[in-house]
Amino acid sequence: MQSGLRIFPEQASTIAEKVDPLYLFLVGLTVFFTLLIGFLVIFFSIKYRRRSDSERPAAIHGALSLEILWTVIPLGIVLVIFFWSAKVFFMISRPPDDAMQVYVTGKQWMWKIQHKEGPREINELHVPLGQSVKLTMTSEDVIHSFYVPAFRIKMDVLPRRYTTTWFKATKPGVYHLFCAEYCGTKHSGMIGQIIVMQPADFQNWLSGGADSSTLAEKGQKLFQDLACTNCHHTDSSGRGPVLTGIFGKTMQLTSGEKVKVDEVFLRESIVNPGAKVVAGYEAIMPTFQGLVTEEQLLALIEYIKSTGQQQEPGQTAPAKKGTVKQASAK
Ligand code: CUA
Repeated sequence: MQSGLRIFPEQASTIAEKVDPLYLFLVGLTVFFTLLIGFLVIFFSIKYRRRSDSERPAAIHGALSLEILWTVIPLGIVLVIFFWSAKVFFMISRPPDDAMQVYVTGKQWMWKIQHKEGPREINELHVPLGQSVKLTMTSEDVIHSFYVPAFRIKMDVLPRRYTTTWFKATKPGVYHLFCAEYCGTKHSGMIGQIIVMQPADFQNWLSGGADSSTLAEKGQKLFQDLACTNCHHTDSSGRGPVLTGIFGKTMQLTSGEKVKVDEVFLRESIVNPGAKVVAGYEAIMPTFQGLVTEEQLLALIEYIKSTGQQQEPGQTAPAKKGTVKQASAK
């Protein structure tokens, strides 16, 4: 691939463009103070060396201006670092609303990728250039970590839980995917490729897949096969809540708590239905723990999402954006 010594991996995502300047700033700052302090240590030890055995330095009784100076300057520097990194952190932790959804399942020792449109991949992820991609990730066994150096993203992939990250590729090409969390014997072999394609090529690639049913369609079939429809009707006559259009809604629980219906809540409600019961319903649903795989869970969730999504006014995305602005306003 590249020849010669590279200090940085390629810069191939919008996140990389934000992370690198911050990182360089931190390195530059560290180098500057290392040199400055090193120089002063040597300079002062020569300049103020003891010249005779009887020499005694004058006593110092404090220097207020000096103390203010060495408090205010570092404070200013660390505040710059804080606001700057908080801004980058918010950017990394909030996938844009228009992001394309991709599901990732980690397993000893491979990455399984599921596209919403149907295609599945192993140790490869094809994505279009210039499109935000949101990854919803989980693990079938132990903790893994999804790491793409060229995109400057790294996120732990945990069993029984969903984590998310996102990226927007800015350069076509093939980039390394690593597992960055020691996960057993073949951890170092748990690698793959992210293939960034021109949008038109990506569309061709998508439609070229052998499996033509979308993830939501797979989920719908599973929903019927597992007899979920026995209790979850499309009207309120069922023994379980209506799931049509439930994604994004806020539900009242029997405990009095309120919870927003997202991937995490849906997953928990399938594998551990007693944990959070929607008010007005009884805790009669059996657990599907062990009966459905992580990939089937993703299909079920995608199916429920596909029946409609609610955006609650002033409560979801817009509210979050406000927070970002406040945080980055400094
Ligand atoms: Cu998976 Cu290391």
